[in-house]
Amino acid sequence: MERYANVVVAMIALLCCLQPFSEAKSLKTQLEIDERQLLNVLPSWLERLRNNLPSSLTGRSVSPDVKSIRKPAEVLNWPSIELDVGQITGVAVDEKSNPVILHRGNVKWDGGSFNSAGHYAKVEDGPIKNDTIVTLDAATGSLVDHWGSNLFYMPHGLEVDAEGNTWVTDVALHQVFKFPKGSRVPSLTLGEAFVPGSDEKHFCKPTDVAVSSSGIFFVSDGYCNKRIMKFDPTGRLLDVYTGAFNIVHSVTLMEEKDALCVADREHSRIVCIHAGLKQGPGQPTFGSPYGSAGHKGKNVGRVFAVAAKGQQLYAVFGSIFLGMSDGKTFDLDSLNTLSRWTPSNGFGSPHDVAVSRDGEALYVVQIGPNSIHKFALE
Ligand SMILES: *[C@@H]1O[C@H](CO)[C@@H](O)[C@H](O)[C@H]1NC(C)=O
Repeated sequence: MERYANVVVAMIALLCCLQPFSEAKSLKTQLEIDERQLLNVLPSWLERLRNNLPSSLTGRSVSPDVKSIRKPAEVLNWPSIELDVGQITGVAVDEKSNPVILHRGNVKWDGGSFNSAGHYAKVEDGPIKNDTIVTLDAATGSLVDHWGSNLFYMPHGLEVDAEGNTWVTDVALHQVFKFPKGSRVPSLTLGEAFVPGSDEKHFCKPTDVAVSSSGIFFVSDGYCNKRIMKFDPTGRLLDVYTGAFNIVHSVTLMEEKDALCVADREHSRIVCIHAGLKQGPGQPTFGSPYGSAGHKGKNVGRVFAVAAKGQQLYAVFGSIFLGMSDGKTFDLDSLNTLSRWTPSNGFGSPHDVAVSRDGEALYVVQIGPNSIHKFALE
């Protein structure tokens, strides 16, 4: 059965792949990929295709845990208002459990956005004039707050920590910012504006931030570098973990388990390491492998973002095949798939995922269509 399934998969893949190659160029902006990366993603397309076929065809059994974990249930007709936003690249949940989104106004990442050295090519266009950070009411989705104009050029990752500080990464500025609760002026700015680099004082298109309750934070860096940087609360670099990453696109921290998981996007892998937050002899050090998958991580498909709560890791996947993007729930330790979920109309290009601190809601934002989706967890 397995052998025939592989033949069927290969035939379907061949038929499907020829067409997307010609369409891929126009999808490039939306999916943030270039031609070189297209060749890299081909194996993961096949993997995605295989993952999306019924398990009766592929011979793969669904993890026995699936039935005990309820799928995230889409909250219909949420938000209740029409949002006037551009590509929504980031989502976080604030300390009041309200979702906060980060969008790019009228700016889009396309082939002309960066030169070959990684410098942003549209500095003279100025920063985004729209309020890029928007807080929505968790229950209704109505507007609670909006700010963040004239600060960013191409913001990418968003985090709101337990104290209510807002963290943003900007891939055009190659910088990471921390805004104290209620402040529009950063209290911490890391990296040099518009200067990409790989030393201790520079980032290269940093993608995301994860913050511990003690204020120690982690930056995934990013599109060109292959590292996770660990900083103390004042912004002093503590440690660097360099992995064999191909676009480390998102990072999430599970503090109780000292686990830090990353979306290694173009390798189609989730990799989990220890965060090294526990002091004392015998405690795992930063960068040591977490869970059964080890430093190699697990091949799961073209993963854009990860978020964790309890024993569950939630991830969203992009696909060049229309209608094949999805979300999945994994067991944090084994990275075994527990469930696959999408909104009723399917996902287009999901870009980030966040879970509320109370574990009751999951949010996914997209860069096309520019939308936010809410799911109820048990
Ligand atoms: C940006 O702001 C302008 C001016 O207020 C508004 O007309 C436009 O709809 C906004 N666009 C987005 C994508 O937020």
